[in-house]
Amino acid sequence: MKNIFLLFGFLVVFGSCQKANQEELSTSESSVEKKTDEGFEMYEMSEMAALMEQMYVDNERLKARIIKGDTIGQFPQHFKRIHEAVLTDETDKDAFFEEQSAKFIQAQELIYKDPKNAKEHFNNGINACISCHQVKCGGPIPRIKKLYIE
Ligand code: HEC
Repeated sequence: MKNIFLLFGFLVVFGSCQKANQEELSTSESSVEKKTDEGFEMYEMSEMAALMEQMYVDNERLKARIIKGDTIGQFPQHFKRIHEAVLTDETDKDAFFEEQSAKFIQAQELIYKDPKNAKEHFNNGINACISCHQVKCGGPIPRIKKLYIE
């Protein structure tokens, strides 16, 4: 039984970057069970978390296009929702968050403004994801690092 709780605790922390001291294992109605390639995960997903997952997928696709030398297209306007999407923990939305999200949007916009140097700008964009995550949400960092273009 204890092991099952540990497992769920791990998935919650891993899936949604809850801080270690927030180990409430809620099985409330708002919990969602999501089947992913990695298996079952169970966690409550905020608007911001859903946006982050979307940005992850968008960047995976963009990476593939850059590697292939395809056209880059248009900056995805929904990225700007990072300024207003509701967080799991709204107190995370402080001056640091605002500053980092502005830098992140600037870095990502550069890919589209200067597609000749897309690879370099793309990797700077991923750096911007990580500089915010180092302070706000450590869990997904290993996953985000996989986005770098070698
Ligand atoms: C300004 C800070 C900031 C930036 C920039 C940022 N993140 Fe996040 N990210 C967060 C926070 C805070 C959360 C937790 C959201 C929540 O739980 O509401 C999060 C959550 C996530 C998650 C976990 C979502 C889940 O399933 O719970 C992933 C994956 C993620 N971010 C990837 C990225 C990627 C990829 C980028 C860059 C393209 C990025 N993030 C840029 C702050 C940031």
